[in-house]
Parts: sequence; C-alpha cells; structure tokens
Amino acid sequence: MGEIKETVKSIAEAARQEFRDVGAADALEALRVRYLGRKGVIRELMQQLGSLEAAERPQAGRLINALKEEIVALHESARAALDRKDSVARVQQEVDVTLPGRPMRMGKPHPLTQTTDEIVDIFARMGFSAVYGPEIETVHNNFEALNMPLDHPSRDAFDTFFIKGRDDLVLRSHTSPVQVRAMRAARPPLRIVVPGRTYRPDTVDATHSFMFSQVEGLVVDRDISMADLKFCLNEFALAYFGEGVRTRFRPHYFPFTEPSAEMDVSCIFCDGGGCRVCGSGWIEVLGCGMVHPNVFRAVDIDCEEYTGFAFGMGVERLCMLKHQIHDMRLFFENDVRFLSQF
Ligand code: DAH
Repeated sequence: MGEIKETVKSIAEAARQEFRDVGAADALEALRVRYLGRKGVIRELMQQLGSLEAAERPQAGRLINALKEEIVALHESARAALDRKDSVARVQQEVDVTLPGRPMRMGKPHPLTQTTDEIVDIFARMGFSAVYGPEIETVHNNFEALNMPLDHPSRDAFDTFFIKGRDDLVLRSHTSPVQVRAMRAARPPLRIVVPGRTYRPDTVDATHSFMFSQVEGLVVDRDISMADLKFCLNEFALAYFGEGVRTRFRPHYFPFTEPSAEMDVSCIFCDGGGCRVCGSGWIEVLGCGMVHPNVFRAVDIDCEEYTGFAFGMGVERLCMLKHQIHDMRLFFENDVRFLSQF
C-alpha cells in the first residue's frame, strides 16, 4: 500500500511539471496519450490493482482515481492556455496592430435642443426652473383657461390639430397651457420656463412648419410689474444675442395678457441700420405681457394679491437668427452635413 501511495505521488509531481511546461499542441497530445491513453500510466496502475491484497484495493483505487482526475484537469487547463496563446499569435499575424484605430463619430444634441438648452440656462441663471407639459393637451387648457372662449376670434391664430373621437383634446398650439398647469399645481411665487414642442396646421415652407418648438415663461408674485418683464427679457436678449443688442417693446394683442407686447431686438446683421433680413433695423423675437386677470381666475389665484408676467418665444426662429439659417426645413431633414455644423 505504501508503495502505491509513493508511486501515485511521484507520478502526480511529474505530471504537474510536464503539463505546465508543454509548449505545443502535438507535445500536449503525446502527454495525454502517455498518461491517459489506452496503454497509458493510469491504465497500467489500474491493472496493478489486481495484484494487491483485497483489503487494500478500495483505498488504492481511490488514490488512482484522484490521480486520474487531476491529470484530466491538468490536460484541460494546458489546452486552454495553448488555445489562448494560439489566438493571440493569429491576431498578431493577421491584423496589423500598428494601424491607427478608426475614430468613432461622436453624436451631439440637435441644434434645436442646443438652442433650447441655452435659453433655459439663461433663465435658470435668473432663478427660473424648467417645467414640462404634455403635447396632447385639453381644449380647456389650450384655450378657455387662457381667456380664449369658444367664440373668441383669436382661436383662429392658435388653431391646431384635433384628436378624432376626443373633442376635448388637441395637439397644443403653444406652450402657454403649461402656465395653467403650473399655476394649478403650485401657489405663487412662481418662476418657470417651459420648453416644448407645439403644433399648428401650417403648410411647410422656409419659415413655417406644422411642428415647432417654443419656450414659455411665467413669473407670478406680489408686486410684479411691466418693469420686471422688461428687465428680465432685456437681460435674456443680451445673454442670447450678445452685449450691444438693443430691445424694444411694441404694443400687441394676446388674449392671455394685458397689456401685451412683442419684443424686437436690434438687427444682429446690420446693427439696426436696416438690411435685407430685417428691413426696419428690428427683428421680432417674442410675445409677452402681464398675465390677464381672467387667466388667474381660471386657476383660482387672487388677482388682487398677485400679478405676473409671461412670455413665449419660438426656438427655431431664435436658432435661425443666431446661426443665419435660412430654411426651417433643414431642422427636420436630419441631414448630417447640416447637423454636424452645430
Ligand atoms: N403663446 C403665444 C404664441 O404662441 C406666445 C406668447 C405670447 C406667450 C405672450 C405668452 C405671452 O406667454 O405672454 O404665439
């Protein structure tokens, strides 16, 4: 028994060494045959079992089996190591690892997203937070709550797409209904901007699309005046168009504000002298005004206690002005030759 124990031990030691040092597939196969083959070392040991005392056989058998398992495992891992070495060598042979890699083209946000982010950032610096509303909006929020009853003529200007079978829903024609949502969700003071997509049944041309983007703004607090509106939007114009730009506020009409105005900036191309783009030296950039008492009434805010101003601007227009883009359709064609310039 002691003898076979010794034999098994020395075979195991030799095998470990040999399987570790093997360097090629044919040498490994020769090792396998020598240890595990039909006339191999293990087989030979098994045959010697017969000549042992019956009492010693079970233990000796277990020793030999353990040795066999160890050698099978040694063979497996030697083969795996050779395979790895092999594939590395093949790659080095077939692939020129010194070639420079192919650079991956990095995407980036769409120019309209960049412009939206820029506008929102400017207002964020003045303490505004961004809120969002759904593109499918109730008729009530899109019109009635904004002081546009069913028979109101200015509904025409905000005409939109209706939803078949749901005459209480529309694709919002402006981001203004989110004012209503925000004022219902939280009591003043409020200072929000609302970026988002809007829809109108316009035919597509260089300056119109049935889908476009706006950024809405709303400030509600005690003692908010037209002076606050002018200061805030003037700051925005300076930040977006650059120092030196001038603003002017022209009286206008919106149902949801009173008084209402449109803000123009001095033409960024001719500095207000008058050119082919602006004609008059001024470029219209947004609509604004003091929140109409009827809008406050629709959301149960006391218009004796609170006042507010609101504004809305078109993102495509602002982006086109800044980057001198002459056709709005470029935004929606997704031609990388256009998009990669921003
Ligand atoms: N909703 C208007 C439009 O789409 C823009 C606008 C004008 C929004 C005046 C306002 C505002 O909040 O006070 O043309």
